[in-house]
Amino acid sequence: MASVHFRSINICVIGTGYVGLVTGVCLAKIGHSVICVDNNKDKIKKLKKGISPIYEPGLSSLIKEGIKKGRLSFSEDINYAVKNSDVVFVCVNTPTQKNGKTDLRYIKAVSREIAKAMNGYKVIVSKSTIAVGTSQKIKEIMKRHHHPKLKFDIVFNPEFLREGSAVDDFLHPDRIVIGAESEKAKRIMEQIYGSVKTPIIFTGIEASEIIKHASNAFLATKISFINTVSNICEKNGGEIEEVALAMGLDKRIGKDFLKAGIGFGGSCFPKDVAAFIRVAKDSGYDFKLLKEVQRINFNQREQFVKKVQSLIPNLKNKKIAVLGLSFKPNTDDMREAPSIDIIKMLLVKKAVIKAYDPVAMEKAKDIFKNKITYGSNMYEVMKGANAVLILTEWADFLKIDFKKAKKLLRSPFIIDGRNMFSPEKMANLGFEYYSIGRKK
Ligand code: UDX
Ligand code: UDX
Repeated sequence: MASVHFRSINICVIGTGYVGLVTGVCLAKIGHSVICVDNNKDKIKKLKKGISPIYEPGLSSLIKEGIKKGRLSFSEDINYAVKNSDVVFVCVNTPTQKNGKTDLRYIKAVSREIAKAMNGYKVIVSKSTIAVGTSQKIKEIMKRHHHPKLKFDIVFNPEFLREGSAVDDFLHPDRIVIGAESEKAKRIMEQIYGSVKTPIIFTGIEASEIIKHASNAFLATKISFINTVSNICEKNGGEIEEVALAMGLDKRIGKDFLKAGIGFGGSCFPKDVAAFIRVAKDSGYDFKLLKEVQRINFNQREQFVKKVQSLIPNLKNKKIAVLGLSFKPNTDDMREAPSIDIIKMLLVKKAVIKAYDPVAMEKAKDIFKNKITYGSNMYEVMKGANAVLILTEWADFLKIDFKKAKKLLRSPFIIDGRNMFSPEKMANLGFEYYSIGRKK
């Protein structure tokens, strides 16, 4: 357990995206002195004023608290931040290319800048997800560009932060994984996380890199597994929630990540599965299991559109109300959101889409441009619609006034990709209600 070794440390965090910002802000919350750096001037400008550039519950108040306590500051200047820190966290984006390889251009560029700014011993901690072997590449880049007399250690400390509950995941994690080579770096990492009550697992660097990919690939597999079971339920009359509940009570299986739906999205699962397939390929192994996980995931989107078409065979010029766009609730993140694939398929069939999301509409506009329209609330998009599609399980949608909705809709069709409502209740209200893995 990490609890006795805490010491306040000067830290800088490079990259203030969903991972870096939560990391920096939470490190300040647990008592460290943190400079968050980003090369995006607008983000830094907002952050200096205490405004979060992303929607993440609990984050805004912690930003303000950190600034007020003098433990949190923001800068565009890597050189200044590195010089004034003993530990440097790297949280820049590591996208996956079409061939599954991780695009390392940002992490490499940042490593060079860190190396040039070094003015004493530092621990360089990567949090950005990277393929096994990348930490050693970072070390080589650092060695080529830093002053040879200055010592440093590299660490890989994977993030397990779910968007929407990232602050809580940081402050109350199931475990902290530290891949490190030197005892000195291990002790410093122990001091950083000293006040967080959870086991710290020290591993070799390569194991820590594999742990991240394997964990996300495993969770994605669990989702594709339950989604396939949901299709079997639909064909045979079983209720997927009953099946998942009973399966999950077996501790060996576990109840989490057994929610059937329209498949996983987000910035991590799709890219980490693709990257792990590539890592396997480069190791001479064809990870067919994960390829099937990807196929099943996309199939869930196609099945969903087929359900829409079973109610409305010709979608041309039909008005479709979409509720929920973000890849999951409590975030404005649209990366790899199932809504993107589903809306694109509906647009090919010439449906007319009007969408509402409590926070993700601004980001959605960058993706869909003027191909779809937006409403300022859920009833506005339902007005005159031929069907309602639920693509994200925002808690707000639980409060839908169905009597009002029914009056607004042209046809009482609801296709729910997130199983938010009881089929019996919806039938009693007079809706034709389709969901996932249940009787229709
Ligand atoms: C990213 C990766 O996608 C993920 O794999 C990894 O685990 C952590 O980092 P995320 O925080 O969601 O996740 O990415 P993103 O929101 O794109 O944030 C990256 C930030 O780094 C951006 O604010 C970007 O401006 C910044 N950045 C990028 C730099 O400051 N310098 C660079 O050279 C590149
Ligand atoms: C994930 C990891 O869980 C986290 O540890 C970190 O590595 C970042 O990536 P995130 O993508 O933010 O977190 O959200 P998560 O809660 O894992 O959901 C990912 C996707 O899976 C979402 O689209 C969600 O809707 C879907 N999902 C999740 C399901 O379809 N069913 C489930 O049972 C759980």
